[in-house]
Amino acid sequence: MAFADEIDKRRTFAIISHPDAGKTTLTEKLLLFGGAIQLAGEVKAKGERRRARSDWMKVEQERGISVASSVMTFDFEGKTFNLLDTPGHEDFSEDTYRTLSAVDSAVMVLDAAKGIEKQTRKLFEVCRLRDMPITTFINKLDREARDPFELLDEVEQKLALDVTPASWPIGMGRDFLGCYDLIHNQLILFDRGKGASLSQGIKCKGLDDPKLATLLPDYALAKLREDVEMVQELCPPFTLEDYLEGTLTPVFFGSAINNFGVQELLTGLGNVAPKPRPGKAIERSVDPFEDKVSGFVFKIQANMDPKHRDRIAFVRVVSGRFRKGIKLKHIRSGKIMAIHNAQLFLAQDREIAEEAFAGDIIGIPNHGNLRIGDSLTEGETLHFTGIPSFAPEILQKVRSEDPMKAKHLGKALEQLAEEGAARVFKPYLGSDWVVGVVGALQFDVLADRIRTEYQVPVKFESTTLLTAEWVEGEAREIKQFMDQNRASMAIDHTGSPVYLARNSWHLDKAKDDFPSLKFLRTKEEV
Ligand code: G4P
Repeated sequence: MAFADEIDKRRTFAIISHPDAGKTTLTEKLLLFGGAIQLAGEVKAKGERRRARSDWMKVEQERGISVASSVMTFDFEGKTFNLLDTPGHEDFSEDTYRTLSAVDSAVMVLDAAKGIEKQTRKLFEVCRLRDMPITTFINKLDREARDPFELLDEVEQKLALDVTPASWPIGMGRDFLGCYDLIHNQLILFDRGKGASLSQGIKCKGLDDPKLATLLPDYALAKLREDVEMVQELCPPFTLEDYLEGTLTPVFFGSAINNFGVQELLTGLGNVAPKPRPGKAIERSVDPFEDKVSGFVFKIQANMDPKHRDRIAFVRVVSGRFRKGIKLKHIRSGKIMAIHNAQLFLAQDREIAEEAFAGDIIGIPNHGNLRIGDSLTEGETLHFTGIPSFAPEILQKVRSEDPMKAKHLGKALEQLAEEGAARVFKPYLGSDWVVGVVGALQFDVLADRIRTEYQVPVKFESTTLLTAEWVEGEAREIKQFMDQNRASMAIDHTGSPVYLARNSWHLDKAKDDFPSLKFLRTKEEV
C-alpha cells in the first residue's frame, strides 16, 4: 500500500468517560469487531475479561481500576485503528491527559441514566483545549435511561457542544427495541439473546418505508417518526468541518455489553474521525505525510512484563514511515539511537515493529534515556509541544521499611519519576524522599509497585508541606537561595532545584527575598 494511503487510513483515538460508564466494555467490543480478541460470548467473568485486555499491573486487577494506559491496534473495514486506553479513575488523570496529547480524536462514553458526569466533563475540557473532535456514545440503553432529548440537551448545555444524532433509540430498558441508523437509513433491531453476535441492520427507504410497519409495533414506529422529526428540527445537520473543529459531536446510542451500536460507532469513526493530524513543534508544524520520521514520547512504562525488567517509551509517530533499524536522533541528548526493537501493540500481544506510520504508537524499550516529552527525529531539531505537566498537589514522605534497601528505593523512585508516575524530590537534609502526586490514590499504587517491582517494602507518611516549586534563575542566585534555605531545598530526579514550602508565608517570603528567581508549580517536560 502506498505511503500516503497507509497514513490516510489511520485512526488514532482514545475513549473518555466517567468510571463505570462502560469504557472497558466498549473497548472490548471494539476489539472484538477488530478481530483482535475473541471472546466466547459473555460467559467470561468480569475479572477475567479485564485481564484478557491488559494485565500489566497487579493493582489493576486487585482494585478493578484501570491504572496503566495501553495501546491496542486493530483493523476494521479497511482502516487501522489505534485505541489508546486511558485510566478512568480521576487519580490517574495525569496519564490520561498525556495520552490525549497522542490521539487525534476521542470517543466520549456516557451512561444513558447519568449523562455528563464529573470526570467526563474534566476530560472533555482537555479535549476542547486541543480542539479535538469528539464522537459520543450513549451507553446502557438496555436499562432504564433518561430521555434521549434530555441527554442531548445536557451535552449541548454543559459542554457547549452542538449535537447531531447519528442513530436514534427506539424505546429503552425493557422496551428497548433497537436503533434507527440515521446515516445509512437502516433499522437495527436489538436482539436481547445474542450478546456477542453482530446485529445486522435492515435497510430501509427512509422512515416511510412500509417495511418498518412489519418490524416495529405501531406505537414505537409512531414515536420514532415523531422523535426523528423533532431531531431534525432541533439539531444542526452533521458537517465534517464542525466535527473536525471540535464544535459538533455525532451521537450514537447503544448498549456496549450487548454489542449493540458498537459496529455503527466504529464504522462512523472510520468514515469521519480524523486521520493523523499535524504535530506541533516549537520550531514548526510537522505534516504527517513528510518523508522523514519524527515523534514524541508521551508515556513511559516500566516493567510491563515482570519477567523482563524493561521500560517502554510510548512514542507517537508524528510523521513519516518508521522502519526497523532506523537511526533516530534523540533531540534532548543529541545522541543517535538505532531502533531495532520497537514494538507494536496488537491487543494483548506485542510484536516487533517492522514498520509503522504517522499516527501509530510504537513502544521503544530503553534503559531510562527516553523521558516523557522527548522528541525523536531523523536529524532535524524539533521539540514537540503539548505534553502536559502537572503540579504535584499532595506531598508525602516515603521511606523503606527495610533500612538495607534505602538505595534500591532511590533507584525505584527515580525510575517512577522518569516514567511520569510521580514527582520525586530528594531533600538536601535527611534521608527521606518526598513524593508529589496529583491524586491520593497514586500513593497506594506507587507503594504497591515499589513493593512488587523493586522488592522494597515502603511506607508513605503525610507531611505538612504545602507545595513543591521548581526554582529557576541565574546559577549564582540559585546557589545563594539554596544556601539560605537548605532545610527546604531538594532536587528532582533530573537534578533541578526545588523549594519545598512549608506554608504560604514561607513561599511568599522566599519570593519576596529573591524577586529575580522564578518559582514554578510545574516543570515543563519540553
Ligand atoms: P468503565 O470501564 O467505564 O468503568 O465501565 P465498565 O465497562 O467496567 O462497565 C461498568 C459496568 O457497567 C459493568 O457492570 C458493565 O458490565 C456494565 N455495562 C457496560 N455496558 C453496559 C450496557 O450496555 N448495559 C448494561 N446494562 N450494563 C453495562 P459490572 O460488571 O456489573 O460491574 P460493576 O457494576 O459491579 O462495576
